Amino acid sequence: MPPKQLSPHERESLLSVARQALKRAYAPYSNFHVGTAVLTEQGEVFSGCNVENASYGLTICAERSAIVTAVQQAASAKLAIRAVAVVNGNEVPCSPCGACRQVIFEFGENAIVIFKGQKDYLEMSIQDLLPESFRLF
Ligand code: THU
Repeated sequence: MPPKQLSPHERESLLSVARQALKRAYAPYSNFHVGTAVLTEQGEVFSGCNVENASYGLTICAERSAIVTAVQQAASAKLAIRAVAVVNGNEVPCSPCGACRQVIFEFGENAIVIFKGQKDYLEMSIQDLLPESFRLF
């Protein structure tokens, strides 16, 4: 099933929720604030922000923060992600890290990811961002 394209309104409202979430980022070590919004197949939206730790490796990226919330709170027991929007406080290019791509894929094999590219915001499918993703057969 190919990704179901987002309407301009869906895209803008996801980016706006991600920008709100950005305000809650806890990033005193990197000072790089990230906010995300996850849109489910049912039309629900969940947000997340990065949460750092003095033990740097314990940092949780904004994408996984939103997905963990969605797993807990989505109406459907089986989360199905349609799209993820990612914004950052510096408005610099920022695509999801490899770990987050694998976690997005887990819940949305056809998810669309919106992120800041070199110039504009780009939309790419998770399959293009993470070819040959891991799955457990
Ligand atoms: N970060 C995210 O939350 N998402 C991304 O897509 C890239 C990086 C966070 C992790 C860390 O808190 C900070 O950005 C700098 O790497």
